[in-house]
Amino acid sequence: MKFNRRGFIKKGVIALIGAQLGYLFFDSFKKKGENEEDQHWYEVGPISNLEANTIYPFQSGQFYLSVLEDGGILAFSVKCTHLGCVIQAQKDGFICPCHASSFNKYGEVMSPPATRALDTFDIKVRNGILFVDHQNAKKRSQFEKPQITYA
Ligand code: FES
Repeated sequence: MKFNRRGFIKKGVIALIGAQLGYLFFDSFKKKGENEEDQHWYEVGPISNLEANTIYPFQSGQFYLSVLEDGGILAFSVKCTHLGCVIQAQKDGFICPCHASSFNKYGEVMSPPATRALDTFDIKVRNGILFVDHQNAKKRSQFEKPQITYA
């Protein structure tokens, strides 16, 4: 078999380009997946920075974090369950400026016209960092203890 230097180099260049394109193709899938994950999960920050018995507003994420006295955490949608106005945080709960519904720190209705508890978002903690799935509100009729997240 005759060694053809030009043919060898040509095949080598084609193989390198193919490998590079393959890497870029699979890498773009990986990055797309990570970005989709990022869009769902709002990074709140270190869970150690949160103080007990405090309500934190996250306007850019459209949610409130309610940190309970025992360290448990609930994440609430800012939308009132009556007609969807944006609720406002109070010292120990929330009030709706539209028709005066109020909710406690667990998101339970304290005064109508709202008839069901505030919608919640899932929470996860990774390496001490707290994330909220702020795009997938979960409707609930009432507060139940398993809805609380503990780190
Ligand atoms: S929209 Fe909140 S009380 Fe009506």
